[in-house]
Amino acid sequence: MPETKLNDKYALSAHGKNKRKYVSGKARNKMSIRAIRGATTASENTREAVFEATIEMVKEMIDANGIKTSDMVDFIFTVTPDLTAVFPAAAVRKMGITDVPLLDMAAPDIDGALKMCIRVMLHINTDLENKDLNHVYSRGAKSLRPDLIKTKKISVAIDGPAGAGKSSVAKQVAKDMGYVYIDTGAMYRAVAVWAIENGIDVKNDTQKLISSLNEIKIDVSYDENVQRMHLNGKDVTERIRENDASMGASAVATIPEVRVYLVDMQRRMGEKGGVIMDGRDIGTAVLPDAELKIYLTASVEERAMRRYKEYIEKGIECDYEKLKADVISRDANDMNRKASPLRQAEDAILLDTTDKTFIEAVDTIKDWIKNTEAKN
Ligand code: DC
Repeated sequence: MPETKLNDKYALSAHGKNKRKYVSGKARNKMSIRAIRGATTASENTREAVFEATIEMVKEMIDANGIKTSDMVDFIFTVTPDLTAVFPAAAVRKMGITDVPLLDMAAPDIDGALKMCIRVMLHINTDLENKDLNHVYSRGAKSLRPDLIKTKKISVAIDGPAGAGKSSVAKQVAKDMGYVYIDTGAMYRAVAVWAIENGIDVKNDTQKLISSLNEIKIDVSYDENVQRMHLNGKDVTERIRENDASMGASAVATIPEVRVYLVDMQRRMGEKGGVIMDGRDIGTAVLPDAELKIYLTASVEERAMRRYKEYIEKGIECDYEKLKADVISRDANDMNRKASPLRQAEDAILLDTTDKTFIEAVDTIKDWIKNTEAKN
């Protein structure tokens, strides 16, 4: 016997406000009653404090779900016994919500319950599915069903020396967790490519490069989560990986004016959150308020060995000692330059991947992100 779904049989009319209407077949519209949960706490048991907390929570529930007053079916409030039960409904009336039925109730006294807590169930008439609803828990109130809460994405800053595996690890973490990965080194590389193509010797014609910055238009687009770089409209994603671009990037990255130009762009890209940005100065200069900062590194020998194996796999002849000397020299460039040198931010967590596999590094960062998301 197929299970009878009450929602299908008794779907609610979008028009007849709170009237139940039996609709069948094609005439059935998709609106149904859903419940949005909210919980918050008041600072004290006064009319003002409960009004303030209730209004803040209800506004957030409305904004987070795009609810109109005409979609509201009813509000059911419960408050812990240390609060006066009549305040929340009165607060909603004060918001101008006058036609929606409201009910206030005192919750029983439960040992260990959160103090001065206001909980609400707002029923709405909507075509949203349960999984698309945004429940609101604020001011220390927690959901008893954390599995239903969509966590807010944070900003993640990853810094560290060249060859530590930042970009491959960050790319994988971003893909697994639905974050946008932003490779800031690619932007320095794009500026370097522009200089090369316009015959500017970065070390000797620094002023010329600085005065041309407004001619350098860098755009980033995403193709299946992979960052593509555009320089004045031309796709340079592969070009910026060539050796002259690496060398040039290292030189342009020492020019303060170039850094100001790119850092401003990077900040705008990161301001909405939900990004994993990697570079040398992300935690210290670009996103100083990032909720999670990681300093990802590995020993000089390990980084040189990884590069060596990569070359060998590609059939490129190379010398381990020469690669090791390159790693040392790039570290010195990044760490000793005057403008935003590479250093671990005070509040960054160190992740040394010398003895870690790629998957272990990815999983470690994913755990850190999940923990930080839960706290925010
Ligand atoms: O990470 P990468 O190799 O693509 O970086 C290219 C150059 O840009 C490198 O020399 C360091 C520099 N860089 C920087 O100074 N600040 C950043 N946020 C990113 C890269």
